[in-house]
Amino acid sequence: MAEDLHIATGSKEEQYSTLIPQIRALLSGETDEIANMANVVAALKEQFGWFWVGFYRVADGELVLGPFQGPVACTRIKKGRGVCGSAWASGETLVVPDVEKFPGHIACSSLSRSEIVVPVLRGDEIVGVLDVDSDELDQFDAVDKKFLEEIAGLF
Ligand code: SME
Repeated sequence: MAEDLHIATGSKEEQYSTLIPQIRALLSGETDEIANMANVVAALKEQFGWFWVGFYRVADGELVLGPFQGPVACTRIKKGRGVCGSAWASGETLVVPDVEKFPGHIACSSLSRSEIVVPVLRGDEIVGVLDVDSDELDQFDAVDKKFLEEIAGLF
């Protein structure tokens, strides 16, 4: 059974450093991908309080909405479309300080202002993306990229 998450204080690095071992513990012993994705987005939402945190999974040649926390969202995104589809197409993490300046950004919510999207890999194949949105500008940086890539690598 999962224990309550210990909410960390301190710098963003310190918060991630406390969170990641807890996420590892949550994932250990459970092989179901959906269950694990659900707990990861819940843990991230609880720790950081971001506006929207969720996974999109590659299915039927598109990104399809997976476990998430936050307002209802677009269900399907084509390769190369929006921030998520661009991260999928490039295989690279995308940090977007101001979504209004990202050509083709898909506004699932008008309240979303900045965003980071991290590909989830299985071997060499991209099987999904982890998408985090903030309702404030410029909320994500190299620290988030490093740690969210580590978290995406736990699957
Ligand atoms: N803004 C994303 C779409 C997903 S939502 O933010 C949840 C994009 O441009 O791909």
